[in-house]
Amino acid sequence: MVFVGLENLQQKAECMLPRLFRDYVAGGAHSERTVQANRNAFKKWTIVPRCLRDVSQISTATHWLGYDCAAPFMLAPVGFAGMMRYGADFMAARAAAKKKIPFCVSTFSITSLEDICAVQGVDVLAQIYVFRDREITRDMISRARQCGVRTLVLTVDTPITPLRPRDEKNGFRRLTNPSLAQMVSFAQAWRWSLGMLRHGMPVLANLQPYGMGRTLLEQAKTAASQIDSRLTWKDLEWLRAQWGGKLVVKGIMHSDDAAQCVAVGVDTVMVSNHGGRQLDPAPATLDVLPDIVASSGASCSVVMDSGIRRGADVVCALAQGSSLVAMGRPWAWALAAGGEATLIEMIEGLQGEIRDVMALAGVTSIEAVHNAGYAMLRRC
Ligand SMILES: Cc1cc2nc3c(=O)[nH]c(=O)nc-3n(C[C@H](O)[C@H](O)[C@H](O)COP(=O)(O)O)c2cc1C
Repeated sequence: MVFVGLENLQQKAECMLPRLFRDYVAGGAHSERTVQANRNAFKKWTIVPRCLRDVSQISTATHWLGYDCAAPFMLAPVGFAGMMRYGADFMAARAAAKKKIPFCVSTFSITSLEDICAVQGVDVLAQIYVFRDREITRDMISRARQCGVRTLVLTVDTPITPLRPRDEKNGFRRLTNPSLAQMVSFAQAWRWSLGMLRHGMPVLANLQPYGMGRTLLEQAKTAASQIDSRLTWKDLEWLRAQWGGKLVVKGIMHSDDAAQCVAVGVDTVMVSNHGGRQLDPAPATLDVLPDIVASSGASCSVVMDSGIRRGADVVCALAQGSSLVAMGRPWAWALAAGGEATLIEMIEGLQGEIRDVMALAGVTSIEAVHNAGYAMLRRC
């Protein structure tokens, strides 16, 4: 499958998946205004062409938090990504390692962190939540340490799971067994169902040690209710003290919160509205990025996600101060559409688009994009 843009991949993925997972990936909270806002924010910016600058050699390589990245984007944590097809978590880890981009494993991973980290050449980040039962969190931190993980990503924008109408209709996180309508949809997505079920019923292996239920749907329900809504800045201090490695806080949308992260010693703040899956309506991440960059200072870098779909979006976010960007749905769609080969094509395709944009904008390195900043852009 030749990569010609993510719309194609999404369409192909949606043909393959049963409704439960198709809607789970694509959907957002409430009216899904934030999902739209994330995309619309990029439409307010153009990139100014520059000429006669020798762009025969372009490098998309960059460094972030000790990672040498071949391209300035990473795969954001996506829970249940292993349901896109059998072995999808391994495919993501291998594709990211082959293409030298960071990959963050979700707490809600179908494959355990241990099994993913055992794959040769894989060097993943681990995303965690603080659970009401702190012993679980403590254990997850210690597992990450034992797996050689260098960076923890603490997600802080999910004190509750808001109504996601598509999931609600399908009974995701509500039912503990598939409904009749879901069974019909599984039958319609027969290739997906055969591929999955041939290997037995999948579960959230990453949470298996904590006995959160026997089936995937039971685990989804219990785990979501385990996320601690009483979390405060004191807990972030606690986590900082527990973890000596690099710490990223994901879900920051206000400059005061970013400044407080810096004060606690966080290494990177991740500007994210969870791809429009939490507060709706929330501002687009691109719209709050400049304020957060301004309050983060030199000791703490900024990474942005939510709504990034094209190479130009990546360049636009980098020019506004994001060190790197992250993407969630796109890699899940790529795996559902065609597995590891398609994900590799997607990564190469995006990297190619970034190269095109940089060449036509007259910049040859990511450092040059950062240095040019707003001078590369025109707001329309
Ligand atoms: C299906 C799905 C599952 C997600 N699961 C998690 C998760 O387990 N942990 C987390 O921190 N973020 C999770 N996210 C949020 C992503 O990490 C990321 O912030 C978001 O997808 C970015 O927006 P985008 O999908 O428009 O690129 C999830 C997002 C999606 C779409």
